Amino acid sequence: MKKTVLAFLLAGSMTLSMTAISFAEETEVSTEAETAADTAMEEMTEAVTEAAGSYLTDCYDPNGPILLEGAMSLETSEMIAALENAEEMYVGPYYCVSGTYKGYPVVVLRTEQESANAGASTALAIEKFHPCAVINQGTSGGHDPELHTFDIVLGKNSVASSAWKSTPSAEGEGVDYKAIEMQGVYSYDPEAGEFTEKVDYPCDEELLAAAESVTDTYTEGTIIEGVISTSNEWNNQIDRMLYLHELTGSSCEEMETNAAAQMCANYGIPFIGIRILSNTGIYGEDFNPETGAACQGYVLNVAEAYMAAKAE
Ligand code: 5AD
Repeated sequence: MKKTVLAFLLAGSMTLSMTAISFAEETEVSTEAETAADTAMEEMTEAVTEAAGSYLTDCYDPNGPILLEGAMSLETSEMIAALENAEEMYVGPYYCVSGTYKGYPVVVLRTEQESANAGASTALAIEKFHPCAVINQGTSGGHDPELHTFDIVLGKNSVASSAWKSTPSAEGEGVDYKAIEMQGVYSYDPEAGEFTEKVDYPCDEELLAAAESVTDTYTEGTIIEGVISTSNEWNNQIDRMLYLHELTGSSCEEMETNAAAQMCANYGIPFIGIRILSNTGIYGEDFNPETGAACQGYVLNVAEAYMAAKAE
């Protein structure tokens, strides 16, 4: 960190001294100054990469707890009630409870609603608890006409569905809501050594396998593998839901999963989103709060299966 700040100062002072030097010596001095500025820049890039590299290894602990997330109490209370040795605490302003479930270490985090809260609380919890994996779960609205309330989507992928660029159009021409191209959001890519724009945030395969291994414990609806669409939007227009389904392959929409996935990608932590349909405008099915408990019951089974497989 110190190195990064120094490199910035160095690069800054190079620019200032370059401006102050007389025009007569311009060519010679600017070459020297450019070389020094280039070196400072290289050092800074190295320092940033080192810092990113160190948090990738520092925060992932294969023996750490599994972090189970929900945005609201109706999406976290059952998991909290199931914990033994429960201890309440806060990360920043976010409420969480650590404990054990069937002997495995677990932290339940209430992220609060929407993407900024989900991203921030996930990053803070990763820094504090060094989890072995993260599951973001809870309620959602349907995009896939095959799905009804109480059906569950295992998020094989998640997308930030508001991360798009629209095709330009002139004043008075109106707005074609379909004239958009997905842009993605930035997360740290260890291979590239930098933050890279990605549309798709695929889940961890072992978490998905654990989720698949316990699907028969869930009897209140069907479970499918699909795509979770995240943005701070609540869509009530059926054509828009169907268009998002067509554009991104989304099965359902909600407000947190992709933001948590993005943070887990930053930190190199295995991640999956699991969402139950609590409503679907396609069939006029309104928000059913009981879906919150149903999803948590299933997710506890997933967490147990994942931790048991890892302990083998
Ligand atoms: N659209 C958007 N968010 C939804 N949620 C449940 N259903 C929907 C929907 N149809 C979830 C979000 C957020 C809260 C408003 O409920 O994830 O936490």
